[in-house]
Order: sequence, then structure tokens, then C-alpha cells
Amino acid sequence: MTLNESIHYQNKQLYIDNIAVSDVITHVGSPTYIYSLPRAIHNYNRIASAFEHLNPHIHYSAKANGSLRVLKTLVDSGAGIDCVSAGEIFKALKAGASARDIVFAGVGKTVNEIQFALEQGVGWFNVENILELDYINQIAMNLGLSSIKIALRLNPKVTANTHPYIATGHGGAKFGLTAQAIAHILNHQEDWANLNFAGLHLHVGSQLGDTSATTKGIQIARDLIKDHPSVDTLNIGGGIPVSYGEADLPSVEAFAKAITPLVESYKLILEPGRSIIADAGILVTCLLYIKQQAAQTFYIVDGSMTEFIRPMLYQAKHQIVPVKQTNSDSQVVQVVGPVCETTDVLAKDVPLPIMQIGDMLAILTTGAYGAVMASSYNARPRPAEIVIAEDGNNWHIARKRETYDDLIRDELLD
Ligand code: LLP
Repeated sequence: MTLNESIHYQNKQLYIDNIAVSDVITHVGSPTYIYSLPRAIHNYNRIASAFEHLNPHIHYSAKANGSLRVLKTLVDSGAGIDCVSAGEIFKALKAGASARDIVFAGVGKTVNEIQFALEQGVGWFNVENILELDYINQIAMNLGLSSIKIALRLNPKVTANTHPYIATGHGGAKFGLTAQAIAHILNHQEDWANLNFAGLHLHVGSQLGDTSATTKGIQIARDLIKDHPSVDTLNIGGGIPVSYGEADLPSVEAFAKAITPLVESYKLILEPGRSIIADAGILVTCLLYIKQQAAQTFYIVDGSMTEFIRPMLYQAKHQIVPVKQTNSDSQVVQVVGPVCETTDVLAKDVPLPIMQIGDMLAILTTGAYGAVMASSYNARPRPAEIVIAEDGNNWHIARKRETYDDLIRDELLD
């Protein structure tokens, strides 16, 4: 079971740090995300110590979980932030990140976003298009800025061992620049007088099943920059996996070990997202109905694909556990949401205790790519988000549950 030191049972009740999950839900209702800040800090520190000998800059990838409270906690722990939109930069700055500790990545940055990032003084641009270089150079010039740090994103044409929807380094992907394009740019750096081509960036995929695509990618990157000593930084992206129940995934330490001989002579940037926040989070949902139909038992819950789309989008399997362990008899059930989609299934054919209407379930390992990917499809207000404070003894609302008014706030009738 993917429980951990923060998310655990005590007297048959699910706790997150020193807080009973049921106590939080009594106050805020369901569906609700709860994140353990102690666990996020623990995960951040584990990555920092695994890579310590390489003295990396760790930029937490805000796309995994952009809650201001999560961002602030990681910034306070020493992280920079990896952003993929001006919106994420805006949030990172609000959370207290210093602009120079922000990397701005993304395959399609708009001119307005580039302008915003330059005005704020963002530290790095991870660049994926030649035209993008022209834009950054021109806007920097207009603003009187120079020596803007650029990491060219390499598409190394390696296929990562992961779900095809989250592999990014293969030749057919939209991401990055080809090795040829990068070689060309590095040989013509003077064409972009206001830019400083200081780094190469790669991210071969998320939830990587082994380290080989990463090491292959780094080797290709090294070859490309060996004649360009001014390129002294390698940003190797994210991708460190978390266990959703699987046993045989490479650890953070295994990643550090595999890349060490390849990156020792470079400055190193990491962009972990999932490995910091996934197992710090749960999504709590309430059992609304039990339906016996077509030789199956459906547990119809108040959480759905609108709060949590990973099972529907990636066939992701997340363990689901009862918030109170009351009944040891179990049965195989389908956990489904109320949304009008056949694929609104949170878990298929899973053994769960025989439960009563009103009982709570927790979907585990949902801190990453959960709330950030939520929608309000079917006019469902977005869920509340709660954090357990760093001391483990207090909880705070990170985001209020949306209201019906929120659903129509930006709509115009006449
Ligand atoms: N850096 C870059 C350039 C990325 O594209 C990503 C993730 C990361 C860092 C962070 O990767 P992580 O450490 O979290 O693996 N929604 C999908 C995951 C999409 C990942 C996109 N890029 C999911 O739910 O699995």
C-alpha cells in the first residue's frame, strides 16, 4: 500500500501527519484534497541530499501542484520554481520565489509571456524554438536587458520507459530542438547579442521506469556542448518516479548515481514535480450510492474525473483506502464518479471493504497532477485544498471550495 510516514493509520483511522482525515472533512466536506507539507519537505530534502555532491539547483515544477501554500513551503525550503506559463511565474512570485530562481520553460511561450518574464527578471529561459530566441533577444533589447540566460531544450530522440502520454524525448514529440538545430544555434550565438547560451535542457518524460533514457539524453547533450565551454549548465528536467503501488521503480538515489559521472563537470539544474508532492497528497471522497448492476458493485462517490483526471486520461491506477477501517470483509468494486461520462471511473475492479453510504474513501498519491488538472465540467465546483502545516499538528485551507457563484463569476449574459 502506498501509505508513508505522513499518510498512515492510527487506531483504524486514516491520519495525515497528526491530523485525523475525518476531522478535516467534518469541517470542509468532500471532495477535498489534503497535502502534507511535512511530506513535501521530506521529499524535497531527500532529493537535495541524494544529489548534494553535485550541488544542484532544484526548481520545483509548479505544474505538478501550484498551490501557493505548497509553492511557498518549497521556496522556504530552498527550492527555485520551474514554470511553464506567465501564470505560473505570477504564482511563484506571489509565493515568494525570487525571479532569478525561476526557470521559464514551455513549447509555446507567447510574446506577452516572454515580455512579462523578462520584466520580472526570470533567471532562465528553457527555449524550444529558434523564433522564440528572436523574440527573447528583441524584447530584452527593448527593455535594455542583456546576458539573458538561455538553456536550449534538446529533443534527444530517446524513448522513455513510461506512459506514452507523458514521454517527451522521442523524435516524434513536439518538445525541444533537434541536435542539428542546437548545433546550428551554438555556432551562431552572435546572432542573438542579448542572450547568454549558458545551458542545455532536457526532459525525456515523467514517471520514468528506468534511468536509461535520461543518461542517453545527457550523453547526447554533452556531445553537443563539448566544443562550447561557455555552456556550463545541464538542466535534466524532472521525471523521478513515485510508486503508485509498483515495486520496481528506480529511486531518487539511483537517478543521482546514474547521472553523476555524466554531469560532474557541469552545473546541474533539476526540475522535480511529482517526486516532491505526489505522495504528500490524498483526495478524500464520500460514498454516495452503492449500485449492484451487471454483476458488478459500483461505489458511486462524490469525487470524479473533474477533480482527478489521471485514471481517465492515463489509465493511472491509484490506490483507494477507507478513511475509517470499520469492516474487514472486502468485495471487488468499481469506484465511479457522478460525471456523465462512461470513463468517469476512479478505480476499476478493486477490493474495498463493504462500506456504508456516507463513509469516506481516500485516493492516495494524488498530490501531483491532481488539483491542477481539475475542471468544473458538469458545473461541478472545484474541490477544496487543505494543507497540513509544517509542524504536522495544524491544518489550513489552501484553497476554498468553489461556490456556485464562482462557476458563473466570469460569464456575461448581456
Ligand atoms: N520539467 C519539464 C520540462 C516537464 O515537462 C515536466 C513535466 C517536469 C519538469 C516535471 O516532471 P515530474 O518530475 O513531475 O515528472 N500530467 C501528467 C504529467 C505531465 C508531466 C509534464 N511535464 C501526469 O499526471 O502524469
